[in-house]
Amino acid sequence: MLQGMLRHGLIGLFLMTPALAAPSAEQRGKAFARANCARCHAIDRASNSPLKIAPPLRALHQRYPIENLGEALAEGINTGHADMPAFELSPDQIHDLLSYLKTLE
Ligand code: HEC
Repeated sequence: MLQGMLRHGLIGLFLMTPALAAPSAEQRGKAFARANCARCHAIDRASNSPLKIAPPLRALHQRYPIENLGEALAEGINTGHADMPAFELSPDQIHDLLSYLKTLE
């Protein structure tokens, strides 16, 4: 009985959440990374990058302070590597992406 109520409560919560909660910066950043970076870079905490020479995004802060990364993203990352397209991100996209990267530290 209690269990049934609990389950209904959880399902209710689950169904309501997407409608109620606007995605957080972290979630938007993750979605952005998944759409734009994930085919080459690992974007989670554990997996290897699909493209071996691309560093996992979680490792970037070991090379750069996240704040510098923000500047680089704003100016358009250009690694001089033909495999990586040059990106120019809007300030909002950068904020979201960096928020997500901070969750990986
Ligand atoms: C088509 C493949 C590809 C995509 C898509 C891609 N990257 Fe990369 N990225 C690379 C490769 C390859 C390197 C390694 C370049 C090197 O070390 O010369 C790299 C390196 C980097 C570096 C480190 C540069 C350095 O100097 O160490 C950053 C930061 C980076 N990528 C961010 C991103 C972000 C953010 C996205 C998504 C918006 C993204 N990349 C999408 C292939 C990709």
